[in-house]
Amino acid sequence: MQRDLPLVRMANISKWFGAVQALNNVSIEVRHKEVLGLLGDNGAGKSTLIKILAGVFPPDEGEIYFNEEPVKFSSPKEARARGIETVHQELSLVNIMTISRNFFLGREPTRRIGSISLLDKKKMDEECSRVIGEVGIRVRSPNEYVSILSGGERQAISIGRAMYFGAKLLILDEPMTALSVKETRKVIEHIEEARESGASVIFITHNVYHVYPVADRFVMLNKGVKTGEFGKEEHEAEEIIEMVASSEGVL
Ligand SMILES: Nc1ncnc2c1ncn2[C@@H]1O[C@H](COP(=O)(O)OP(=O)(O)OP(=O)(O)O)[C@@H](O)[C@H]1O
Ligand SMILES: [Mg+2]
Repeated sequence: MQRDLPLVRMANISKWFGAVQALNNVSIEVRHKEVLGLLGDNGAGKSTLIKILAGVFPPDEGEIYFNEEPVKFSSPKEARARGIETVHQELSLVNIMTISRNFFLGREPTRRIGSISLLDKKKMDEECSRVIGEVGIRVRSPNEYVSILSGGERQAISIGRAMYFGAKLLILDEPMTALSVKETRKVIEHIEEARESGASVIFITHNVYHVYPVADRFVMLNKGVKTGEFGKEEHEAEEIIEMVASSEGVL
């Protein structure tokens, strides 16, 4: 069977932070409409890898291909223009802004009055209320500040925003603050919805049990090196947990 070309391919990526090599010759691919679980212990290089893909910083070595076309992102904006939307571990919402402002940050709709272009506040509030309602968050007003929201609510708003702007690849880096069981379940639901709408997802988590039910494939990193890449059917969740914990790979 001929295999479809991947949506995204990162080839031979290396990255140093001073003397620390965060990534050493790592290659991954993300296929169309798949959920890829990215696993590995603290400091394995997971966030660094997805930050390179999200345009936060460039790799020192290696290439990125989007639909097999070589791409270089010099900012998150350029990655977003290709449909790569990222929910970072350090949550990507600004506390001192309202929910609605956060939702449209950098992509605010405008309306014109004569030659003057103004923020379309009404549209922002309406669209934002609709989308966050759809992702199951109850807030009194889109003009509430983000600082009052729980970790799960912030995560959901970021995901809602990504899907609203037509993400082709949704990247979720597990938030530092633990989500409640209910919030986690919601995030998993959103991942399934994203895939159903045709997007691919990279999901980073320490908890294999969270990602296992939704994942199609897994990539494991350990100290900047790829140590595993396999389909879900190849390993039980318990085996994968053991591999991550023992730092033993299967490559
Ligand atoms: N901006 C930075 N400056 C210096 N060192 C960094 C920077 N970002 C990451 N590192 C280092 O690179 C290595 C990989 O870090 P990274 O954040 O990618 O790991 P991770 O797999 O996401 O870990 P965690 O599961 O704890 O989030 C670590 O040794 C880390 O200290
Ligand atoms: Mg990280």
